[in-house]
Amino acid sequence: MNITIVGPGAIGSLWACKLHQAGHNVSLCSRSTNKHLSIKLDNHPEISFHNNDVQRLQQTDILLITVKSWQVESALLPLLDKIDSKTILLFMHNGMGAVDDLNSQISHFPIVLATTTHGALKPYVQCVLHTGKGQTQIGAYNDLGQQCSFLADVFNHALPSTVWNSDINTALWNKLAINCAINPLTALHQCKNGALAQPQFQIEIQEVVTELVQVMKANHIQADEKSLLNTIYNVINATAENYSSMHQDIHHKRNSEIDFITGFLIKAAAKHHIELPKNHALYQSIKQIEQCW
Ligand SMILES: NC(=O)c1ccc[n+]([C@@H]2O[C@H](COP(=O)([O-])OP(=O)(O)OC[C@H]3O[C@@H](n4cnc5c(N)ncnc54)[C@H](OP(=O)(O)O)[C@@H]3O)[C@@H](O)[C@H]2O)c1
Repeated sequence: MNITIVGPGAIGSLWACKLHQAGHNVSLCSRSTNKHLSIKLDNHPEISFHNNDVQRLQQTDILLITVKSWQVESALLPLLDKIDSKTILLFMHNGMGAVDDLNSQISHFPIVLATTTHGALKPYVQCVLHTGKGQTQIGAYNDLGQQCSFLADVFNHALPSTVWNSDINTALWNKLAINCAINPLTALHQCKNGALAQPQFQIEIQEVVTELVQVMKANHIQADEKSLLNTIYNVINATAENYSSMHQDIHHKRNSEIDFITGFLIKAAAKHHIELPKNHALYQSIKQIEQCW
């Protein structure tokens, strides 16, 4: 298939290389003005990809958008008049709400959302490291996207395991819940994920989760406080040695994805007149840090 990756950062480069290795015709759309970009995945030979090639964009079957949530709009809008209306838009980023913000402009395309637990790191521009094996879930965002379940096979063949989830919204809410608990706290305390298992964080995590469950239930997402806490502590322990993406963003003085993680939760709560004092305080603390730069 003809696949274009928009935003070949860490996750985008990992998928670019894996989909190329699986035999697909992969090209890139990046902010670089180079016509070709080379990427080396782990110890594999370097692969050269076409970059920002309008003809390839017109022929693309799948546009895989792997920019950060706050970059989605600026990355995608300039491409819309260059792609065919049958092109599948597949979004893979953390957080929620970025696609909702654009829906009126893209609703005529098949739209599919993905969440992945694979880990990738781009230590320099031509190199990507697959730092952690995980699972990818894909599911439809709109009616046209419902016809795209074959994507699970395409992506699973390139990088297992990938599954089609007919309720991707619930999967995204659960990922959001994990991110709401781990990301702001590790960013504010500049600690590894594992540090959150210490007793001093127990009350804060409990408060975040109690608020989360209220909002999830109001949005008709099945949520149980005890099992969500369990899941969050399992992730904290399984990724104890990792730094969260928000930790890294704050550490390197880059914009974080807080508006699409805790910020999305706060907006969703407001629609149901639910107050979230703990999550609001965490949101404000991250925003204050970002505004100091
Ligand atoms: N990395 C992981 O292990 C991982 C795992 C799971 C989920 N995720 C999620 O996946 C998303 C991407 O993460 P990442 O770590 O891959 O971030 P990243 O390395 O910063 O990749 C984002 C890429 O998008 C590019 N970009 C930004 N604006 C663009 C535009 N207008 N046009 C074209 N390209 C543009 C950036 O280019 P520049 O280099 O020019 O800024 C960068 O290469 C995030 O939501 C993250 O939370 C990441």
